[in-house]
Amino acid sequence: MRSTNQHGVHSPFVFGLLTKCLYVKDENSVHEKIRSYIKAVLKDSQIIKVTDFGAGSRVFRSENRKVGAIAKNAGISERRAILLNKLVSYFQFNTGLELGTSVGIASAAIALDNSIQLTTLEGCTETAKIAQQYFNKFNLKNIHLKIGEFDDLLDDIINANDKLDLVYFDGNHQKKPTLKYLNKLFPFAHNNSVFIFDDIHWSAEMEEAWEEIKAHPKVRLSIDSFFWGIVFFRKEQEKEHFIIRL
Ligand SMILES: C[S@@+](CC[C@H](N)C(=O)[O-])C[C@H]1O[C@@H](n2cnc3c(N)ncnc32)[C@H](O)[C@@H]1O
Repeated sequence: MRSTNQHGVHSPFVFGLLTKCLYVKDENSVHEKIRSYIKAVLKDSQIIKVTDFGAGSRVFRSENRKVGAIAKNAGISERRAILLNKLVSYFQFNTGLELGTSVGIASAAIALDNSIQLTTLEGCTETAKIAQQYFNKFNLKNIHLKIGEFDDLLDDIINANDKLDLVYFDGNHQKKPTLKYLNKLFPFAHNNSVFIFDDIHWSAEMEEAWEEIKAHPKVRLSIDSFFWGIVFFRKEQEKEHFIIRL
């Protein structure tokens, strides 16, 4: 009821983002590549021993899991993967960070046919190995996969980067860690950075985290897409919040 589309948006920046990027219905070769990546991981029947991190899985009990099942349950959907790819190409991002690689569907969507250099972080060694196999197979040399706990890896990232154009938060969907990672990464946000939080409505505590993120004085513009919380830091922008179905 409260959501809007391009007709209800008065911000020229958001109107442009919707009409020139997110709502554009085109079909091109990169979408085909994203689909092939997803298809390949979904039909992968290798069984690996997974170490659970973060909020844990609501689906699996066993530690031994089929790669295809991990892709199905943890990976981003095809539609969202294409949206991510469109965002990266629209803003022409050069540097990106993803928290939570899994088997690399979102990483591939961010990196495919874009000039971005993406660092992606994964705690589970076996899962990361699979992701790296697929990055090699799809010749994704612009993805740099790091294995370890987010907390430890973030300190290295912070030492290696000045600014980040894109941060995609998609691991450890709990309030405290989400806000902790965000606070570590705030200094890397520049005026045109975009931070995306996956699954903001996944739990009551993620809802609370999203409320705090939106209210933060550094955040000027926020979009709730029902699955993502997208934030912008544009100082020239009046503080505004949109609910937009993507
Ligand atoms: C939802 S999946 C990521 C899905 C991926 N972004 C995609 O869309 O294809 C989250 C991943 O984050 C990893 N993860 C969660 N918490 C972590 C932590 N504290 N340190 C390292 N990795 C973590 C999990 O092992 C899992 O593979």
